[in-house]
Amino acid sequence: MYMLTRQLSRRLLIIAILLATMLVSPLRAQSNAQPWWQHAIFYEIYPRSFADSNNDGLGDLRGITSKLDYLHTLGVDAIWISPCYPSPQFDFGYDVADYENIDPMYGTLADFDALAREAHKRNIRVIMDFVVNHSSHQHPWFLESKSSRNAPRRDWYIWRDGKGPGLPPNNWESSFGGSAWTFDPTTGQYYYHYFEAEQPDLNWRNPAVEKAMFDVTRFWRKHGVDGFRLDAVDLLFEDPDLKDNPVLPGKNEFGDPQMTDKFNDNLPQVHDELRRLRKVTDANGQVLIGETWTDNIDELKAYYGPHQDEIQLPMDFMFTTVKSLSAPDFRKQIELVESAGGWPVFVISNHDIVRSYTRYADGKNNDQIAKLMAGMYLTLRGTPILYYGEELGMENHDPVRKEDVKDPLGQHGWPEQKGRDGERTPMQWDASRNAGFTQGTPWLPVDPAYTTYNVAAESTNPDSILNFYRRLLAMRHLSPALLDGDYTPIGQNGPNVLAYLRRSGKETILVALNFSNSTQPFDLNSAAQGTIQAKTEVLLSTSAAKDAANGQQHTLLLSPYAVYIARINP
Ligand code: NOJ
Repeated sequence: MYMLTRQLSRRLLIIAILLATMLVSPLRAQSNAQPWWQHAIFYEIYPRSFADSNNDGLGDLRGITSKLDYLHTLGVDAIWISPCYPSPQFDFGYDVADYENIDPMYGTLADFDALAREAHKRNIRVIMDFVVNHSSHQHPWFLESKSSRNAPRRDWYIWRDGKGPGLPPNNWESSFGGSAWTFDPTTGQYYYHYFEAEQPDLNWRNPAVEKAMFDVTRFWRKHGVDGFRLDAVDLLFEDPDLKDNPVLPGKNEFGDPQMTDKFNDNLPQVHDELRRLRKVTDANGQVLIGETWTDNIDELKAYYGPHQDEIQLPMDFMFTTVKSLSAPDFRKQIELVESAGGWPVFVISNHDIVRSYTRYADGKNNDQIAKLMAGMYLTLRGTPILYYGEELGMENHDPVRKEDVKDPLGQHGWPEQKGRDGERTPMQWDASRNAGFTQGTPWLPVDPAYTTYNVAAESTNPDSILNFYRRLLAMRHLSPALLDGDYTPIGQNGPNVLAYLRRSGKETILVALNFSNSTQPFDLNSAAQGTIQAKTEVLLSTSAAKDAANGQQHTLLLSPYAVYIARINP
């Protein structure tokens, strides 16, 4: 009898555990396949501009929570929220005054918990922006550090004597203009800041700084955070001897001498540190995304780590610097990224760069070009990161007068550098006042195009950019080839058409993209050197390409900027 009761209670226990696993962790359902982040669509939210729940003109966390169903329907699997920590907002949150709380303008920690809970219910992971290189000048660490040369946290930041009266320790420049050193009369020394003076650089050579920052990742794990986007990660270390940077001819947009950041950017120690950080985030079950601006593919390759033990998702920003809509230029960059040996990460827009809609618009085929860009980067091998509003065809809406500029970069660099306000305007939800973003006064003006380009209007238009994104993302989620297949370029020398196969063991998908403003014939068989013998099944194409495909079996006539995606059936 005793044995029987024991067996029964063991069985009940196992059933309870199984049920609990099924109920509490829908996110882990695929854990034995690829890591989740390889199949995920990421979406960057700039919280000031996404959705305002209390009508103070600034977006907030409750606003984001209220839009999770929209994101879920769009096909988003993870949101990266740009900084929402307490901050005096000199750089709109990239100046963090407390790494373990939420700024009241965005809500409370309880609001964050609710957001994470609701996101997870919809299988959407949550990524925090982790501003690792610098804090705010109002962070208690810095306030203590600056208080005295003997302060216990003095060495948490980088303090040095000047070269002489009024002369900073060296020639390093701030990327926001002027010297990277600010004199602090309290202790008669200079402190270093790669960005604004209100953003002092943390001293990562100090183990106490490392420990404090690693603890931050553990704090957010407890609040449901699934990973971090590492801000300005290339800048963690500086040459300890503070050697002057090499000066180049000419001036930059702030009127300062041009120079290379040889001694304060991309030092080898960055990689040692990333390997240590990765151990911590691995133990937390968190993924790392890198803000990895690189000059060449070797630098990008290095961020994956010698044993894939640094950043899982280093963003390739060289992709965003392809200047014109050129099939050969994009083909070349894709091949370079493919050659880096890691899992590629593609972005076309973010809060620091002019929106891709504006970068590539020709004034005539703008919407079709937006679809072309999506048709490309959402079908490549790798993880895409969308930027809010990109799925609507949001464009840059730049300030025209200096007095309207909010971004410090634009305030210092005007008129040559207009700043980043243009790509940070409010999300366009509907055609009502302020695009449905707020009932108050939005912190930045809404782009006038919102009356046409908004979620509500585009949802009812089958040909809208939004519905194109929705179809594309739905298709991608269901396609083994698009999720995991290899990338094989075809028609490699074509000047106008970018075409490739994505092949997994289970499926082959063909993507053909017309990067020109004229109709282009595309002979599938010769481009693929006879490998496409079988019938194609069109999965998604812009209408003109579809019509052409119905003509001859293997010769497509691709209309200007056409997107053609087909399954090759054996
Ligand atoms: C990169 C961020 O993306 C940008 O917005 C910010 O100004 C700098 N880092 C400084 O944190």
